[in-house]
Amino acid sequence: MVDYIPDQQITDHEFSDEYIIKTYNLTKIYYEGLPSEVIALKNVSFGIKKCSFIAIAGPSGSGKSTLLNILGCMDSTTSGRVLLDDIEVTSLSEKDLADIRKTKIGFVFQDFLLIPTLSAIDNVLLPLIPSGIKKEDRARAQEILEQVGLGNRAKHRPKELSGGEKQRVAIARALIQSPKIIFADEPTGNLDTTTGEDIIKLLRELNKSLGITVVIVTHDLMIMDKVDLVLNMRDGGIHIP
Ligand SMILES: Nc1ncnc2c1ncn2[C@@H]1O[C@H](COP(=O)(O)OP(=O)(O)OP(=O)(O)O)[C@@H](O)[C@H]1O
Ligand SMILES: [Mg+2]
Repeated sequence: MVDYIPDQQITDHEFSDEYIIKTYNLTKIYYEGLPSEVIALKNVSFGIKKCSFIAIAGPSGSGKSTLLNILGCMDSTTSGRVLLDDIEVTSLSEKDLADIRKTKIGFVFQDFLLIPTLSAIDNVLLPLIPSGIKKEDRARAQEILEQVGLGNRAKHRPKELSGGEKQRVAIARALIQSPKIIFADEPTGNLDTTTGEDIIKLLRELNKSLGITVVIVTHDLMIMDKVDLVLNMRDGGIHIP
């Protein structure tokens, strides 16, 4: 599922076509406005195979969110390369990155990040606003809500939903543009154990039925038990036990 390359000089390494995410010597250093630099990722090189269901774990501050944000095209690298579905994203313009986020990636966050004034279905449709919402999109959003078990909650606003239901709406929103990869940062962090398990079950079903690669950042041991593989991070690197 994951091919980690400990050798720091891997410029010649060829991943096969099975890999949807590839990183080469990925490094992220934060400088701006700081008294001293923070090296958040150090020379990280690995590949993740298509249709994987994996977790990224590790202590607080080890670089998990930094890595996820870079893989998700939400943040830039300091050096090194990232390829998503064979596209070199490290050299793309802001506009092209936005296109990749739109066409290939879905995000799920700990805090759900739903718009409180919008109904569940309108939250699901949100990513389509820039390109214009068509009539058939609404039917598709309803279908996706049904797929995540919320067909009868489409008109509810977030405050009228439980935590688990809110996270399902967030997952439906991640699905609206048929992503190839879902990145989830602590998706069960605000949920009780049973609800968290249901959310992971749902993500696993989507991974299996739609072939979506799912990468979950987590501290949750329950999740680590349910994924194909855990990538352990320590001090900005991947730690092999
Ligand atoms: N925008 C930023 N500017 C400066 N430093 C940052 C920034 N974001 C993260 N860092 C630093 O980079 C390191 C890695 O942070 P990151 O958020 O990736 O950790 P994490 O593994 O996700 O931790 P947690 O489990 O607490 O969420 C930390 O030392 C953090 O203080
Ligand atoms: Mg984090």
